[in-house]
Amino acid sequence: MLSIQGLAAKYGSCQALFDIDLEVKRGEVVGLIGRNGMGRTTVINCLFGLLKPVAGEIKFDGRVLNGMAPYRVGRLGLSLVPEGRQIFPTLTVEENLVATAKRGEGSSSWTLERIYELFPRLKERRTNLGTQLSGGEQQMLAIGRALMTNPRLLVLDEATEGLAPIVRAEIWNVLAKLKQDGLTMIVVDKNTKALLRLSDHNFILDKGVTVWRGTSSELSARPELIAQYVGV
Ligand SMILES: Nc1ncnc2c1ncn2[C@@H]1O[C@H](COP(=O)(O)OP(=O)(O)OP(=O)(O)O)[C@@H](O)[C@H]1O
Ligand SMILES: [Mg+2]
Repeated sequence: MLSIQGLAAKYGSCQALFDIDLEVKRGEVVGLIGRNGMGRTTVINCLFGLLKPVAGEIKFDGRVLNGMAPYRVGRLGLSLVPEGRQIFPTLTVEENLVATAKRGEGSSSWTLERIYELFPRLKERRTNLGTQLSGGEQQMLAIGRALMTNPRLLVLDEATEGLAPIVRAEIWNVLAKLKQDGLTMIVVDKNTKALLRLSDHNFILDKGVTVWRGTSSELSARPELIAQYVGV
């Protein structure tokens, strides 16, 4: 579904990505793993048209995405739950959800009711403003809002960051349900253990280079790799 080859990118004169390879097959969950500052968010920025690559190729369903405007990337069916959530603070929960809604194909289309079923907390908070939500509720809203675009590929950047353990567990449960429903996902998360329980394939990034790729069971069997490239 998605293939990235030889991707390189710069912020001004500062090169963040040198040689990134990544592949995502339909229906699978891919983990992007690496220490802070190794380029995971930058790969996502390139994928969503927020940063123009200086080399390499990004292909989604055979179409080259390099340098495509973000709104067009969204139309192709990619949706992002960004680092820091970025919900609309002055809109209510429900307004946030309908603001980005896009009709899906067939009967699998996401609706407010389905989002509220997935996150009952959001239903209780439906008339609250974004600013009145806890961190966990904001994260749920960010995920709900991304789902309302009926994505074919959902990308989550640090979706459990800074949340209480019980809320993290709830988010991981929701992601497992989405996987079961067949949603294709790329997940970036510092909790490698929890990530490997969800993901099928994983790519380790180190200083802007893909240094390892393999299945979750292969990586779980190699704690020295995790120690070297993640540090825990
Ligand atoms: N807007 C920016 N301007 C200049 N340099 C940036 C910018 N954003 C990121 N960088 C640099 O690019 C490199 C990759 O950063 P990136 O945000 O992709 O890392 P990451 O893997 O997402 O890590 P984390 O989210 O844990 O910080 C880092 O060296 C970072 O300092
Ligand atoms: Mg990041």
